Amino acid sequence: MQKTIIDYNLVKNILTQSGIPSVGRASIRELVRIVNLIEEQSSTKFIRMEMGVPGVEPSSIGIEAEISALLNGVASKYPMIEGIKPLKTEISRFCRMFLDIDVSLESCIPTVGSMMGAMAAFLVANRTDRNKEGTLFIDPGFPVQKQQCKVLGQAYKTFDVYNYRGEKLRDKLESFLSEGKISTILYSNPNNPSWICFTDDELRIIGDLSQKYDVTIIEDLAYFAMDFRQDTSLPGVPPYQPTVAKYTDNYILLISSSKAFSYAGQRVGMMVISDVLFKRSYPDLKRYYSTDMFGYSMIYGALYALSSGTSHSAQYALAAMLKAANDGEFNFVSLVREYGEKAHVMKKLFTSYGFEIVYDKDMDVPIADGFYFTISYPGFTGVELVEELLYYGISAISLDITGSDRLEGLRACVSQVSGEQIQTLENRLRVFRNNHPVN
Ligand SMILES: Cc1ncc(COP(=O)(O)O)c(C=O)c1O
Repeated sequence: MQKTIIDYNLVKNILTQSGIPSVGRASIRELVRIVNLIEEQSSTKFIRMEMGVPGVEPSSIGIEAEISALLNGVASKYPMIEGIKPLKTEISRFCRMFLDIDVSLESCIPTVGSMMGAMAAFLVANRTDRNKEGTLFIDPGFPVQKQQCKVLGQAYKTFDVYNYRGEKLRDKLESFLSEGKISTILYSNPNNPSWICFTDDELRIIGDLSQKYDVTIIEDLAYFAMDFRQDTSLPGVPPYQPTVAKYTDNYILLISSSKAFSYAGQRVGMMVISDVLFKRSYPDLKRYYSTDMFGYSMIYGALYALSSGTSHSAQYALAAMLKAANDGEFNFVSLVREYGEKAHVMKKLFTSYGFEIVYDKDMDVPIADGFYFTISYPGFTGVELVEELLYYGISAISLDITGSDRLEGLRACVSQVSGEQIQTLENRLRVFRNNHPVN
């Protein structure tokens, strides 16, 4: 047995002192804290794959627009809750150019990241019908959204979609929806963490069922245009980012700027509500809001109560980046394509040292290379593997906390791993494998 990469006792002490019963079940941010401590005390830089932080610089278009908005004095002014007109205009155009859908300006609303978009969506869409109880998550998924439901005291159900792809998805969804208790369905596409990408046939099934059971779809497009197998980067030119909005008018889209535009730090995202839903009346909303109107309750009920709008200057930044993208002057996808290239190299490395890709197939083809991939190692559960890899200077999260059925797996995020670290990763994987031989 070779020594581990980081001193065994040092890691063990930090884990014991952290007070967290099982580091493999810790939240992403808790794990970040522990890895920071190990890095600091061991003076060893980790291969950090636990958190989805953008790994590329944002375009100067956004930063310059934000600086000039600040110089023009927006910092002292409250923005309108529904968003500044230039941003609403560009979000609406963005929907036309990159999703091939029409939405009016009033239905395009900035939020403090998609995190807040989801919170506001739960606050309104899960309260439209007093006889319904909450959200159905098509998992695996982003753990914090379930935390949001918990914090709100709302119920939720989940299932792992891996074995219910294609036409099988219909029966699986109906088995939940037919009970009549589901208000909303939430999924991310491409999927965090598995990188499954729904086909148009599947989105049509979801859309059809949303009409049949009167359920609102919350489509989380945090990784917009990042299924790099298709080039969806050209405005007004097919193919477009697939969306359920093609198949139902009962939807809320959450379009994050964090990954596609590398603008995570400024906490600005977009919520797009279908025009039909925006104008719809739900008498049961009056239990919580001054009106029965969905869109009005979203803006002057939920978003007002949450933060009274989105950072004024960040709205100008996003408006400028969207305008440049819509005008065909800024190919935002070309900036993030390197994630896919990195995933390709890293997946090869992990598999050559005995790891397996957990969510390995997207329908009947190999899973695409994107922002995340999932791995397992023989003889370990995901929770055990998270902890074990910490001794080798590698951090990732367990699929256990994502609603996955695949408890042997980890989610690895490629964004923070630099090209220069690939050799280090290989060296560490070699030591890991030597210490944990498999046939
Ligand atoms: C699926 C998913 N939804 C939402 C978010 C949060 O996005 P934002 O930074 O816009 O709040 C993330 C971030 O990692 C995510 O992976």
